[in-house]
Order: sequence, then C-alpha cells, then structure tokens
Amino acid sequence: MSGIKEKFLIFYETKLLAHFSEEEKILVHLLPDNPHIIRMCEEHVRMNELYSSIKTDDSKLGDDLFLFGELLEAHIRFEERELFPLIEQHLTE
Ligand SMILES: [Fe+2]
Repeated sequence: MSGIKEKFLIFYETKLLAHFSEEEKILVHLLPDNPHIIRMCEEHVRMNELYSSIKTDDSKLGDDLFLFGELLEAHIRFEERELFPLIEQHLTE
C-alpha cells in the first residue's frame, strides 16, 4: 500500500493541487456566487482534506484512497457535464 500512497501523494502534490488552484483562479471570478462554482470549490476542499488524511493517517489508508478516487471521478464528471457547459454559456467567443 505504501507504494500506492507514494504515487498518490506525488500525483496530488505535483499535478492535482496546481490544477485545482488554476481552476479556482480562472473560474471563480467569472461566476463568483454561482452554486456550481461553490460546489467546485467545496469539492476541492473535501479532496484536500482527504489528501491530508491520506498523508498523515495510515489507519484507514485503503478506504481513504478508494473514497478519493470516487470523489475525483464524480468531480470530473460534474465539471465536464455541468460546470464547464454552464461557464461556456456565460462567456463570449
Ligand atoms: Fe476541479
């Protein structure tokens, strides 16, 4: 399990964290009070909390990694199917 944990931590710290930050930096100011944007930010926070748990607490590592995968998959679906189309409606060419 520790190899999986190491790979997860590297992925999160070198790719995903910057991706979350970039989405927030670019998208929040476009529709700051929109429930979809708020949901996006809340899900980023939830995944960051889970990342902290994975990093510091091995007692439920398997469950945490599984849950993180489920949250990330649902988050990507939400962004691609609901959030990004909504934002496209509000942007000019
Ligand atoms: Fe996101």
